[in-house]
Amino acid sequence: MTTVFESVIAWRGERTAQIRAGLSLGFVPTMGALHEGHLSLVRRSRAENDLTLVSIFVNPTQFDNPVDLAHYPRTLEVDLSALRAEQTNFVLLPQETDLYTDDYRYRVTENGLSTELEGAQRPGHFDGVLTVVLKLLQIASAERAYFGEKDWQQLTLVRGMANAFFLPTAIVGCPTVREPDGLALSSRNRRLTPDDRKRAPELYRVLLSATDAGAAACELGESGIAVDYVEDRDGRRLAAIRFGDVRLIDNVPLGGHA
Ligand code: PAJ
Repeated sequence: MTTVFESVIAWRGERTAQIRAGLSLGFVPTMGALHEGHLSLVRRSRAENDLTLVSIFVNPTQFDNPVDLAHYPRTLEVDLSALRAEQTNFVLLPQETDLYTDDYRYRVTENGLSTELEGAQRPGHFDGVLTVVLKLLQIASAERAYFGEKDWQQLTLVRGMANAFFLPTAIVGCPTVREPDGLALSSRNRRLTPDDRKRAPELYRVLLSATDAGAAACELGESGIAVDYVEDRDGRRLAAIRFGDVRLIDNVPLGGHA
């Protein structure tokens, strides 16, 4: 059975009872529009914990672009059926006013990595991500929280925050789930035109095959794809490209598959 909580306070009461009963919790924070990538995190959590909590909250503070926020797909009923089918124990649907009682006067800022790559293109984005993740981790009180490697920079920053603030929740990174043609699953893929959808797997192919980041950027550019960045760092090749106003990100380990 899947129990849905709209109230943060009601969830906290439930979690206190679980902790007293010695039940471990895995937590999967999401913004909804769930696909197999999200569900892979739910499955991993189910395998490693007594109970699993999924949150769905389209976090306004991480959208630097109001058009992106307005376009963000909201598919709550379909999401809930998918979570029921995965036998998710609990779903939290917090209200913005419950999460941001401080009107976002308090926020987490990281001053290095968060200003580069995605952060350079999307000012304030990672402040919004880190702040909401800290709030959600505190509310969830989970033993483990699951994040996708698809958003490598986000995963790295969340790990760094958890270390910096001695958070008791272990941050678990999970492999990127892809379409058979290699395109990383993303809620944004549904906004690609049929033609751009056909070209999009080029990103993964080139990231894997190019000899270095510069060569990958050139090859993508030569195929007529608008490249925001390709960078090799910390053993990973990270990239962002655009098809019209649809921005896609991906990353692969250097010298491997993911
Ligand atoms: P969202 O984009 O909904 O993603 C929720 C989680 O699913 C993230 O950890 C993301 O990395 C993971 N994910 C997305 N696509 C994936 C794929 N193809 N394979 C594996 N995992 C995938 O990321 C966010 O929401 C938000 O920033 C959030 C952390 C919830 C804070 O608001």
